[in-house]
Amino acid sequence: MGVYVRQLLAGRDFGIRDVYASRMANFIYLIGDDESRDCMVVDPAWDIKGILDYIDREGMKLAGALATHYHPDHIGGEIFGLRISGLAELLCVRPVEIHVNAAEAEGIAKVTGVSRADLVEHSAGDEIEVGAVKIRTLHTPGHTPGSQCFLAGSALVSGDTLFTEGCGRVDLPGSSAEQMYHSLTQVLAKLPDDTVLYPGHNYGAKPRSTMGEQKRENYFMRIGSLGEWMRLMQRY
Ligand SMILES: [Fe+2]
Repeated sequence: MGVYVRQLLAGRDFGIRDVYASRMANFIYLIGDDESRDCMVVDPAWDIKGILDYIDREGMKLAGALATHYHPDHIGGEIFGLRISGLAELLCVRPVEIHVNAAEAEGIAKVTGVSRADLVEHSAGDEIEVGAVKIRTLHTPGHTPGSQCFLAGSALVSGDTLFTEGCGRVDLPGSSAEQMYHSLTQVLAKLPDDTVLYPGHNYGAKPRSTMGEQKRENYFMRIGSLGEWMRLMQRY
């Protein structure tokens, strides 16, 4: 049994020729079981048909969707007057369960228009099964109250909590700098060094990293105290 992971970049692997998708540089992920060929899609947005075509070409079967957080560039909705397709459009063509953090459920329903009944609410440490693979949810508030990361084997999909050279913004409605510090230092920093980091955007020089590299080189993972962190965040 092996964990199947694919990293797809908006504007390159799907949403091709969509200038906004390219500019926002979202990654979406497929996580699954490479034997049973079942997979989950993480943060489906921008081009649902393109994502489903990719899944079909890979010979995978879509078993469900996972949401890292409620921002429209990850799950669909409206942002800056721009309508982004996402969970609602996915449900129209492939009705699957959508796995969310309980603290994010209301926001996800509001932003996308999907029903609360379509959402499976999770808390920290839950396991979501896809084939024989177990995906563990890590609750990492800070960017939003119900931000969550997903751990499958040695793969960590981090949404907008941790990027290869930074972390998610904490100056948005619902953000908390203090919670972000806790999520980075008490949750993500505890993961083994060989954990592979798959971020929610292609913001760094490279598209993925390891937690060992992050602990050594990511400035935002190296702040020694909450006080120092809060002083730093006031400058952003
Ligand atoms: Fe975000």
